[in-house]
Amino acid sequence: MTIQDIFQKKSEKKKITVLTAYDYPFAKILDEAGIDIIMVGDSLGNAVLGYANTLPVTMDEMIHHTRAVRRAVKTALLVGDMPFGSYQESLVDCVKNAVRFVKEAGAQAVKLEGGKTVTEKIKALVEMGIPVMGHVGLTPQSVHQFGGFKVQGKNRKTAQNILKDAEAVEKAGAFSVVLEGIPHKLGKRITEALSIPTIGIGAGPCCDGQVLVLHDLLGLSGDFQPRFVRRYADLGKAVAKAAKDYQRDVQKGKFPSLEESFE
Ligand code: KIV
Repeated sequence: MTIQDIFQKKSEKKKITVLTAYDYPFAKILDEAGIDIIMVGDSLGNAVLGYANTLPVTMDEMIHHTRAVRRAVKTALLVGDMPFGSYQESLVDCVKNAVRFVKEAGAQAVKLEGGKTVTEKIKALVEMGIPVMGHVGLTPQSVHQFGGFKVQGKNRKTAQNILKDAEAVEKAGAFSVVLEGIPHKLGKRITEALSIPTIGIGAGPCCDGQVLVLHDLLGLSGDFQPRFVRRYADLGKAVAKAAKDYQRDVQKGKFPSLEESFE
């Protein structure tokens, strides 16, 4: 899967499927299932590393997990998500860290959050040959600015700003843009206005593609379930049952059996 294949999907009105992955076994399953884009999101922080949000995630953590995913992914486009602090401070930092994603971790593209404020950075990366996915709307790295994970673009002015951000990201050369946590009508309006694909998460059904955090989809992120998440499996409960069954069998001397032992 290349960025050209992703453009092609928008022009053929075929929906683009995106999921996050953070390790080898899950990435292999998603790749073999035919998911178009596998993203090592900085949601790594809350989904896997036990942080309260994405802000503490470091470049080294992202590189470590992206390398594991890279070993598994044979077909999907692999996108590395630039963590908080890895691109905001300076263009030099941004370029250096995006290069790390490509060179050390084997990512084919990077994602960064922001609209008008990051266009110079997007341009610089694209000019040096690194495809960029934008991300506008409810950008989780700005959680403190927003005062929580609140839907953005609910009034005319803020909706217009998000549309302008998405247009700026497209103009800067991004190959696609994530629309997160915005009203579905705004998701539709932006999708119609842009020629690059929009990838929605909590942005309604009209986006060109959809992304979810894998652990939300699999039921591995606890009881809280945001409105935009659909749980396709309940692995949390399945794992808990397996652990309890194993514990019971060991405690009762039922595991291992002689068939599971050596002569
Ligand atoms: O960090 C992440 O996983 C993301 C996607 C959900 C878009 O930013």
